[in-house]
Amino acid sequence: MYEMIKDEFEKSGIFKDESKLFPDYVPERLPHREEQLRALARLFRVILKSPGIISQKVIIVGNVGTGKTAVSKRFGYLFEKIAREKGVNLKYVHVNCHKDRTLFLILKRIGDVLSAGIPKRGLSPYEMMHVIKEYLRKNNMYLLVTLDEVNFLIRSSGEDVLYDIIRITEEEEEGEHRFSYIFISRDLSVFEFLDRSITSSMMHNVIKFPPYTSSQIFDILFERAKEAFLPGVLDIEVIKLIAEITGVDKGGSGDARYALELLWRAGKYAEQEGKEKITLEHVRKAKQDTHPIISMELIEGLSRHEKLLLLAIARCLAKSEKAMVPFGMVEKEYRIVCEEWGERPRRHTQIWEYLQNIRNAGIIATEISGVGYRGKTTLISLQDVPAKILEKHLVEYLRRR
Ligand SMILES: Nc1ncnc2c1ncn2[C@@H]1O[C@H](COP(=O)(O)OP(=O)(O)OP(=O)(O)O)[C@@H](O)[C@H]1O
Ligand SMILES: [Mg+2]
Repeated sequence: MYEMIKDEFEKSGIFKDESKLFPDYVPERLPHREEQLRALARLFRVILKSPGIISQKVIIVGNVGTGKTAVSKRFGYLFEKIAREKGVNLKYVHVNCHKDRTLFLILKRIGDVLSAGIPKRGLSPYEMMHVIKEYLRKNNMYLLVTLDEVNFLIRSSGEDVLYDIIRITEEEEEGEHRFSYIFISRDLSVFEFLDRSITSSMMHNVIKFPPYTSSQIFDILFERAKEAFLPGVLDIEVIKLIAEITGVDKGGSGDARYALELLWRAGKYAEQEGKEKITLEHVRKAKQDTHPIISMELIEGLSRHEKLLLLAIARCLAKSEKAMVPFGMVEKEYRIVCEEWGERPRRHTQIWEYLQNIRNAGIIATEISGVGYRGKTTLISLQDVPAKILEKHLVEYLRRR
C-alpha cells in the first residue's frame, strides 16, 4: 500500500521516464549515424573474419555532442553480439579517460570488466597486463577497447601514454593480436605526438562525426521524446524550436547533448509549474538557464568533492563579482560548502589536486597572480560560463544523488 501511494505521489504529469533524456543513456536507434556505424563495421570486419591476425585501430573525431560516445557504445554492444553468433569470444570495454586517466587505471578498468581476477593492489601496469593477457589467452578471447576522451589521458599522463598502451598490448604472444582499439577525440591534434609507425596506419581509419543540422536534431529529439514523455505533453513545435536553436545550419553548434538538455529542462519547468504541456516559453526559459559548455556530462564526470570545490569557486566568483578569485578564498569557501553538504573537507594537497582536475576538464582556468597581490597566489576564473548558472546547476546535481 505504502509503495503504491508513494508511487502515486511521485508520478509526473510530464515524464514517462526522464532518464531517457540523460546523456549516459544509449538509445537503441541513432538517427543520422548509420554511415558511421557502417564504417566501424567495415573496419572491424577483419577481426571477426580472422581473429588475432591484426590489431585494428580506429579514430573517431567530432565536436561536442555529435554522438561519438553513444555510437561507439552501441557499436560495441552489437559487435559483441554478432561475434558471439559467429563463435568468436569478443568483449567490448569502454574506458572514459576523463575518469580513468592513467595507464594503471585503464588496465584496472579492463580487468574489472573482464573479471580477470587482478589483485586489488601491488601490481605494476606491466604485471597487470600480463594477468589480462593470460586471461584472454586461456579463454580464447579478443578485446575491443575504446579510449574515450583520449585527450584527457594525454593531458594528465603525458604524450607517451598512448604509445605505452599500444606497445604494451602489442608485445605479442606468438603473433596473436587480442587487442583492438577505438580512440575518441574532439580533434586529431592529440595524435600528432605519436610515433609515425603507429599513426600511419591509424590515420587511414578516421571516422568523422559532423555537427548535426537542425533537421537531424529534430529527428533525434523526436525519437527520444517518444521514450521520455507521456503522450500528448509535447508538441512538434517545441522540438522544432530546439532544433532551430541548436542546428549547425541555423548558427548553433550541432550538439545533440545540448539539445537533449534543453528538452529535458523545458520538461522540468512544465512539471514544476504543474502544467499538462510543454510550451515554447518553457524552452526559452530552459535556454536562458542552460549553458552548452557546462553540460551535464562534464559535471557528472567530477567526483563529489570536485563538485563541492567547483561550487565554492562559483560562489566566490558570484559574490566577488570579479573575473578571478584567489585559491585561498576558494579553499575557505570550500570548507563552508562541505559543512553545508555534510561532507568532511579534504586536506590542502587533495584540494589542490581537485583543482587541477577541474582545470583539465576545461571548466576553469588558473593563473599565477602578478601585480596587485601580496605574494604569489593562484587565481581562478571560469571558462565562458556565468557563475550564477553554474552554481544553480551544481546544487541540482549535488541534490540528485
Ligand atoms: N544520432 C543520435 N541519435 C540519438 N541520440 C544521439 C545521437 N547523437 C547523439 N545523441 C545523444 O546526444 C548526447 C550526446 O552524445 P554523445 O555523448 O555520444 O556525444 P559525444 O560526441 O561523445 O560528445 P563529447 O565530445 O562531448 O563527449 C547523448 O545523450 C546521446 O545519446
Ligand atoms: Mg563523449
